[in-house]
Amino acid sequence: MKPDLKVNIAGVEFANPLMTASGCCGYGEELADIFPLAKLGALVTKSISLNPRLGHPPPRTAEVRSGMLNAIGLANVGIEKFISDKIPFLDKQPTKIIVNVAGSKLAEYVEVCSKLNDFESVSMIELNISCPNVDEGGMEFGSDPVMTEKSLKAVKKVFDRPIIAKLSPNVTSIVEIAKAAEQGGADAFSVINSLVGMAVDAESWHTKITNNKGGLTGPAIKPVALQMVHAVYSHSSLPIIGIGGIQSTTDVIEFLLCGATAVQIGTALFKDPMLFIKIEKELLQYMKRKKCNTIYDLIGKVRKY
Ligand SMILES: Cc1cc2nc3c(=O)[nH]c(=O)nc-3n(C[C@H](O)[C@H](O)[C@H](O)COP(=O)(O)O)c2cc1C
Repeated sequence: MKPDLKVNIAGVEFANPLMTASGCCGYGEELADIFPLAKLGALVTKSISLNPRLGHPPPRTAEVRSGMLNAIGLANVGIEKFISDKIPFLDKQPTKIIVNVAGSKLAEYVEVCSKLNDFESVSMIELNISCPNVDEGGMEFGSDPVMTEKSLKAVKKVFDRPIIAKLSPNVTSIVEIAKAAEQGGADAFSVINSLVGMAVDAESWHTKITNNKGGLTGPAIKPVALQMVHAVYSHSSLPIIGIGGIQSTTDVIEFLLCGATAVQIGTALFKDPMLFIKIEKELLQYMKRKKCNTIYDLIGKVRKY
């Protein structure tokens, strides 16, 4: 019998546990040109804010050892253009759509989520309370438990489908923030966003990106992400989407074992946008070999040494 890759997160069914990570394939148009989106469990959009944002001037990415540093600065088309230009495309896609929402003020998050509520094709919202690259607000929402709970409560009032709280690793206790998000009504967690980092050129003495500091992503952050997924899993029964440095099927399995129900892949897509096809095939082979009938036979099954 073929193993079943389906997973359910807060009542929404996904064909498999593989999703794109926000900011790593825009609104899906370019990816759809080269890759059948039906192969994805879900497409997660770039963060959408109330007003369009140009983001930081280039250079805004730099390759670093075992990863990448970025300070895009939440460049996006803004909610009105997203609704007029991007939703019609997303409506037609044969996969679930999760819209990532960012803001610099609570009222902005609420307005964007309220507008998205009109579009049934938006299965879930992923609330980016953890972006390290905005000047005002941004990470504050996700680093202060009081603000985290308040933000979740406010958006839950205007969006009637599930909300995923995307958590930051740049906090003293991710469990404390997860508990606050759950208290506010979060239906699931995405764990983790990027870690704050910096890259310097020893010849010119310049920082490598214009914002000086940026978000570190890619393989360098995988051990941090695995630990945080496991910590949140150990303290909450809400489903978790694991993110951070996934490059292979083995990486995906490690996240599932640590407690993730699904995973998102970001940085690795820049190298290989077809990675999902390979991972789906290899995941099925692995599950057959390990006699796992469903993904749930793997979730949280990590054994202590
Ligand atoms: C270029 C780039 C842009 C990103 N933009 C966003 C964003 O707009 N919103 C967000 O929540 N996360 C954003 N992220 C973070 C990713 O969604 C993800 O959490 C992070 O990259 C870790 O996963 P990875 O190691 O697989 O890339 C971005 C990451 C990269 C590399």
